[in-house]
Amino acid sequence: MKTALVILAAGKGTRMNSDLPKVLHPLAGAPLLIHAMHAGARLVPEKTVIVAGHGADRVRRAALSHDASVEIVLQSEQLGTAHAVDQARAVLEGFDGDVVVLFGDTPFLQAETLERMLAARAEHDIVVLGFDIAEVQPRYGRLIMQGDRLERIVEYKDATEEERAIRFTNSGLLRCDAQLLFELIAEVGNDNASGEYYLTEVVALANARGLSVTAVKCDETETLGIDSRTDLAAAEAGYQTRARTKALTDGVTLPAPDTVHFAFDTVIGRDTVIEPNVVFGPGVTVESGATIRAFSHLEGCHVARGAVVGPYARLRPGAELSENVRVGNFVEIKNAQIGEGTKVNHLSYIGDATLGTQTNVGAGTITCNYDGVLKHRTEIGDNAFIGSNTMLVAPVSIGDRAMTGSGSVITSDVEADALAIARAPQVEKPGMATKLFDILKAKKAKLQRGS
Ligand code: UD1
Repeated sequence: MKTALVILAAGKGTRMNSDLPKVLHPLAGAPLLIHAMHAGARLVPEKTVIVAGHGADRVRRAALSHDASVEIVLQSEQLGTAHAVDQARAVLEGFDGDVVVLFGDTPFLQAETLERMLAARAEHDIVVLGFDIAEVQPRYGRLIMQGDRLERIVEYKDATEEERAIRFTNSGLLRCDAQLLFELIAEVGNDNASGEYYLTEVVALANARGLSVTAVKCDETETLGIDSRTDLAAAEAGYQTRARTKALTDGVTLPAPDTVHFAFDTVIGRDTVIEPNVVFGPGVTVESGATIRAFSHLEGCHVARGAVVGPYARLRPGAELSENVRVGNFVEIKNAQIGEGTKVNHLSYIGDATLGTQTNVGAGTITCNYDGVLKHRTEIGDNAFIGSNTMLVAPVSIGDRAMTGSGSVITSDVEADALAIARAPQVEKPGMATKLFDILKAKKAKLQRGS
């Protein structure tokens, strides 16, 4: 069955107390909206429509940078969830499949739940996703069931005391034929306690037409909406707990799991060791049998089998570490490919560079990649030896098996097998140190006598 996703993301999120639109607040390194898009993408939708309102430009940019094929529609006034979905009407005109409505602030939806909703659609015209709530909360609508048929949804504000006590509540997600949904939405009014056009009204309207509506149940954690920074922190904690458990189950060693932070897309191979206090930003893959030592920060990078990173290392976007590479303490690597077995062990910055295999980069080496306006590349061959404290002023290349003297400022290319020394030659003056000390001591004594 063809599917179109409509993701509601126009709300202000007043309780976030933020200039940033609620759906752009990050969770595990990605905006809430991207999590929702990611969850929905498992349905392989023909179309994805995002309803933006508050901070629409920023929402548009974030959504398109994740998936350039999504369509953004504007809801300039937030008149309720039915009104929000109605903004997708023109984009979905004539669409002959189902609409699945998702919320941009509900990040934890599981593929299996979406599949169960799809399965239920075989027998019902509308499928709503509900969950049993542990504690009664005013923010959720109550699902009024008759056996497996959903009769109507009543919002807390409009509910009787009896209805308010119902624990089967509305997640907000729904699946329905697109054309039917827009027909029903056209009939939704706003005569209710909030004066809003409720999407939930379509349930009663469908029943009035003799159509069949049901609710599928999922776990409360899956439909956890995020309204405040407290909710966001709780969601992050929940996400991290699950990610740590998954990593351990997948055969990753975490001696102190509670101190390791994962991003939504972190991939780690079996028998890799992640020491305490390691943070993964988005876009990291670590292959099997690698070791990420304590206090390292990785984002947008790839670490191959057997590599050892850290402690205290920083791998930035575009860092590509081949097998058995060593990156040690206080080393930063950005947009650089490091060949197999190469070592950058201490206090270095390697940016916009390609390093060959089995090369040794001495302590304190810096690729001077930025001239204040443009970035330039450094190329280093195989089996090279870069002396400690070498400044490689890019663009520059160092040939295979070449060597640079410690403290050199290398401004031109070094050919293979050559030794380049670019520093002031050493001058030695016999006996001069003692003479200098005597002069200085005499000066000090004179000053002390004078005071
Ligand atoms: C809605 C449901 C409620 C359900 C709850 C789950 C309705 C009437 N009520 O509550 O039954 O239990 O979700 O969280 O549907 N939005 C827009 N434009 C609007 C209004 C909302 O885009 O005009 C978006 C918000 O950005 C958010 C989502 O829709 O992503 C839900 O809105 P919210 O105000 O949190 O939910 P309620 O309407 O209170």
